[in-house]
Amino acid sequence: MTDKDQWPRQLDRTVDAVQDRMVKTRRHLHTHPEVSGEETETTRYLEGQLLSDGFRVRTGPSGLGVIAESAGNGSGPKIALRADLDALPIQDAKAVDYRSTVQGVMHACGHDAHAAAVLGAALALDAADKSGILPWPVSWRAIFQPAEETNQGALEMIEAGALDGVGAMLALHVDPSRPAGTIGHRSGVLTAHCDEMRVLIRGSGGHAARPYESRDPIAAAAQLINAFYVAVPRSLDPRHTVVLTVGSIAAGKRYNAIPDRALLKGTVRSLDEDARGRAMERVREVAEGVARVSGTEIEITFRSGPPSVLNDPGLTDLIRQCAVDLLGADRVHHIGHPSMGGDDFAHYLNRVPGSLFRLGCSGPGTTTTGLHTPDFDVDERALGVGAKILARAVVRWSEPKTHEKEATR
Ligand code: NI
Repeated sequence: MTDKDQWPRQLDRTVDAVQDRMVKTRRHLHTHPEVSGEETETTRYLEGQLLSDGFRVRTGPSGLGVIAESAGNGSGPKIALRADLDALPIQDAKAVDYRSTVQGVMHACGHDAHAAAVLGAALALDAADKSGILPWPVSWRAIFQPAEETNQGALEMIEAGALDGVGAMLALHVDPSRPAGTIGHRSGVLTAHCDEMRVLIRGSGGHAARPYESRDPIAAAAQLINAFYVAVPRSLDPRHTVVLTVGSIAAGKRYNAIPDRALLKGTVRSLDEDARGRAMERVREVAEGVARVSGTEIEITFRSGPPSVLNDPGLTDLIRQCAVDLLGADRVHHIGHPSMGGDDFAHYLNRVPGSLFRLGCSGPGTTTTGLHTPDFDVDERALGVGAKILARAVVRWSEPKTHEKEATR
C-alpha cells in the first residue's frame, strides 16, 4: 500500500478526533431545539463553531441556516453536503441529561444528528487538507438549512445561491430501523411526493334535534372520509403507490348543535406523477359527489410539499462504495422500497445530481422508537459513521480522473 492509499484511514482518524465535538454539538442542539423557520440560536451556534475554525461562512436569506466553504478554491465544480436544522412540536419524553429544555419542542427527526455529522465531516476534511493527508485537492460546501419539515428551507437556500458552482450533493438521514454502524442506500426514487390537502365543508348549522333543517358538515365529513378511503385506492392502479390520510378534523363546539362548517386536513403521497395527478383528481370528484348528496359546499385545496427524492445512480454507488470500504459489505444494505415519507432535499436534486442515504442509528439492546416520537434518540456512534462516509465520498468524488471520465462521456 502506498502513502497515497492511506488517506481513507487517516481521514477516518481525523473524524475520530472530532467525535467528542460532534456529540457535544448534537447534545447542545438536542437540548435547545427550534422549530422550522425559527432556527435563530441553532444558526448562531453552528456559525460560531464554523467561524472559530476559520471557515468562510454566510447565513441564509432570512438569517437562518449557514453555508460554509472549503478553504481550497478549486476552479472545478464543488460537492455539497446538506444538513437540516429544525426540530418538531413534540414534547420530549426522554430521561437523559441532554433532553430538550424547550416545552413542547424536540429534535424528534434527528436533524441535530445531521447537523453534527455534517459539521464533523467539514472539520475533518479541513483538518485533513491542512495536514496534507488528502491525495488531491477537494472543493466542497456544507449547507446547514432551516425549515426542512415545512418544505421551505431547501428552496430558500437554493434562492440564496447555495447550489452555485455545485456539481453534486450528498445528505444523510438517521434511520432508527437500522442499527448504528449500518446504512441503507437506494438509487432512484427514495421518498414520496407529499401533497398537503385541506378540505373545507360549508353547510348550515342548526339544532341537533332537527337535522333536516340543517345541512350537516359533520355528516358530510364522515361520508367524505369513508368515500376517500374507498374510492381513491379503488380507482388507482395498485402497482402505483399512493396513500391518502386525513390527519385532522375540526368541527362543532356543542353536543347538541350542528355546526356550519368542518375542516379536514390530510396528505396525499405518491411515488410517480401520473398516480399523483389521478389521486388528486379522484379526491375532487369524490368531494363533488358528497357535496351533491349532502347539500354542502366542499372546497379542496392542495399544497405541494416536497417532490420525491430521486437519487442519482452514480452518486448512490459512490456512497455505497465508501460505506462498504468503511463498514464491510454486510453492513451496507440496499433499500428495497421507497419510503412514503418526504424530504425537501428533493428540491436540490431537481437541480443537481445527488444522493441521500439512511444512517442506522439504533443502539444495541435498546428499544429505539421511530422518527417523530417523544422517546426518539440516536446512538451517537452513528455520527462518526455518517461523517466518515460523507468525508470519504467528498474526497473520492474530487479525484481528478473522475472529472476527466465525465468530460469524455
Ligand atoms: Ni427528517
